[in-house]
Amino acid sequence: MIREKHVYSTPDDLAGAAATRIVEILVEALASRPKASLVLTGGRTPRLTYRRLAEHHHDAIDWHRVALFWGDERFVPHDHPESNYGMAKESLLRNIEVADAFPIPTDHASPSASAEHYERDILGYFANREPLFDLTLLGLGDDAHVASLFPGAPELEERERLVVPAQAPPEHAARDRISLTFPALNASKCVLFLVAGENKRGAVRQALSGDDVPAAHVAPREHLLWYLDAEAAGAMK
Ligand code: 6PG
Repeated sequence: MIREKHVYSTPDDLAGAAATRIVEILVEALASRPKASLVLTGGRTPRLTYRRLAEHHHDAIDWHRVALFWGDERFVPHDHPESNYGMAKESLLRNIEVADAFPIPTDHASPSASAEHYERDILGYFANREPLFDLTLLGLGDDAHVASLFPGAPELEERERLVVPAQAPPEHAARDRISLTFPALNASKCVLFLVAGENKRGAVRQALSGDDVPAAHVAPREHLLWYLDAEAAGAMK
C-alpha cells in the first residue's frame, strides 16, 4: 500500500486539491471500465470539496458512469440537518447527476434493518462479486474515529458484515448511526482522508504514528492518501 500525505495552507486550497485528485482517480478508473464507484464521507469537512467538484469539475468526467455510496449515515430523515446524504445532495449533487446513487436508507424501523438493507444494496451493485470500491473518502474525528466507527466500539471488531448499526458517543447530536465496517472500508483500491482544523491535529498524529485508533486500521488495497490543511497537519509538513 502506497501512502501519501499532502498539506495545504487553507481549507479552500485543501478542497481544490482534493477535488482535482478525486477526478484524476475516477478518470483513471473509467479509462478501463464502464463504471466507477465512489464512497462519500459525511461530516462538515468534505462540503467544500463537494462544492468544488460540483462547480469546477461537473463536466470533467461522465458522472453518469459513477456509482455513489456513503461510508456512514446518521439515522435521521434524509432532509434532516444532520443527514450525510442531505449534505451531499446540497453540495455535490446540486448540479451533478450520477446514474447510481445509493444513499443509506434511514426510513427503516431500526438502524439494524437499514444496515441490512444497505449491505444488500452493496452486494447487489457488485453482482455478488467481492465488493471493491475505486475510491473511498473519509473524514477523521478528533477522537480518530472514521465513518461511524468510534474508539472502543464493538463495531471496530466486525470482520464479516459490510454494514452495521453503530452508536456515536453522547456528545454527538445524532447518536444512532449506520456505518461501513473495516472489511467494507478496506475493500477500496484507494482511500482519501480529508482533514482540516487544529482540533484534528492529535488524531492525525495518532493515526499516522500507528497508534491503536480507528483511523490507523484503514488499509486500502493500493493507495492511502492524506489530504490535510496546515492546522490539522501541525508541525508535520
Ligand atoms: C460523520 C462522518 C464522520 C466524520 C468525522 C469528521 O457522519 O460524521 O462520517 O466520520 O467524517 O466525524 O467530521 P467533520 O468533518 O465534521 O469534522
